Amino acid sequence: MKKNDYTRRRFLATVSASSVAAMASGAIPFIGKTNNVTGKLAILGGEPVRKNKKWPEWPYVDDKMVEAISKTAKSGIWCRIQSETGTVPTFEKEFASLMGTKYCVSTGSGTQALNTCVEAMGIGAGDEVITSPLTDPGTISSILTTRALPVLADIDPESFQLDPDDVERKITENTRAIMPVHIMGQPCNLDRIMAIAGKHNLRVIEDSCQTHLAEYKGKKLGTIGNLGCFSFQSSKTIACGEGGAIVGNDEELMDKCFTVMNHGTSRKGRTETIGPKYRMNEFEAAILLSQLSGVKERFARRNENAKYLNSRLSGFPSLVPQKLYEGTDSGSFYIYATAYHKDHFNNNSRSKFLKALEAEGVSMTPYIPQGLHKEPWVDHILGLKVYQKMFSPARLQKYRDEINCPNCDRVIDEVAMIWASGPLIGTREDMDDVVNAIMKIYENRDQLKSI
Ligand SMILES: Cc1ncc(COP(=O)(O)O)c(C=O)c1O
Repeated sequence: MKKNDYTRRRFLATVSASSVAAMASGAIPFIGKTNNVTGKLAILGGEPVRKNKKWPEWPYVDDKMVEAISKTAKSGIWCRIQSETGTVPTFEKEFASLMGTKYCVSTGSGTQALNTCVEAMGIGAGDEVITSPLTDPGTISSILTTRALPVLADIDPESFQLDPDDVERKITENTRAIMPVHIMGQPCNLDRIMAIAGKHNLRVIEDSCQTHLAEYKGKKLGTIGNLGCFSFQSSKTIACGEGGAIVGNDEELMDKCFTVMNHGTSRKGRTETIGPKYRMNEFEAAILLSQLSGVKERFARRNENAKYLNSRLSGFPSLVPQKLYEGTDSGSFYIYATAYHKDHFNNNSRSKFLKALEAEGVSMTPYIPQGLHKEPWVDHILGLKVYQKMFSPARLQKYRDEINCPNCDRVIDEVAMIWASGPLIGTREDMDDVVNAIMKIYENRDQLKSI
């Protein structure tokens, strides 16, 4: 295929007669709906693909939400222990029902939810939990705060998800649990992870912090492992500023989660165990409750738009959407992620591409600056007495030596993504703008060198 054949083929349907003539003469044609004869990039003074148009606002706010906050303020019930029928217990019931689980325990954040699970499972100093380096620091923090050892397995460079083979390689006699992260809001290879956990008798805490309502093989993410955790931090597809939840079907384990979350005090009012105070407050729950009725519709819209973007980018080798595993019925599309292949853009850096795209009116960004395996916490904990006491010098040396995740390093360098909670509830025209801006830059990639 000649270098511009791909875009020509896909955009032929919207190309005007004059551009077909231009194409035949070898000049750069109109591309999609850019209406930009010269193809001059906006960053270099050309017309942007998208002008004077707004993306859907996020976080989602409506009058119902404002009323719910006001009603909670006036009620004087601001803390969950003031009422068994307040917004927090009501939200827990509604979220469990939405997820199809028997129980839900809310917390003040996703990090708190994950940490509550680790603590409730009795995992602590001397134990190891395997997780992904491509995640929010909260994942690692939830393991470290119990003084257990987060062991990082590498990821699959196409799906950006935890690589089950590397998970299995990283199991030691100290391993107690796997914390798979469903990164970007789409399912990881959970069949394989669950099989590995079963074979080695390990618990599974799903880090579903980005994955509200997504489904894998007919089941909601967060309901497949022993426990599943969600975040309601502002950027998420269900949000209240800061908030979290644990879902599960094991009554005893979920009761333990409640007790840990409630400063070690059980539903019976006895202070029984070690636990921080991680209670969600009534305002957070009021905000969450008020948005639940529209959540399924927004979720469906994001999936429809992601499917459309994937179909428009299908076969385009230069910006490749995150691979979805077989069995992905739906994703949350908290993030719409792609891999930028610099060699297809005349070796121009991702940063030049992203700047040019921004000028066209479409915002894509990298994810985190580096994998969690490269952050200073690794050296910090290796110098701590508790780790030196609980693990042999040989184990800690091996840990140091094996904390390389080359696939994660590559993904960090390649990811170009849309923070999708808001943008992906936009219109078909919004999605066309995204693809047209990408294709305009691709067609005119020779101009990137002058940025
Ligand atoms: C994958 C993942 N895990 C854990 C967390 C932590 O959640 P929170 O920010 O609510 O503490 C987040 C939040 O961004 C996340 O994306």
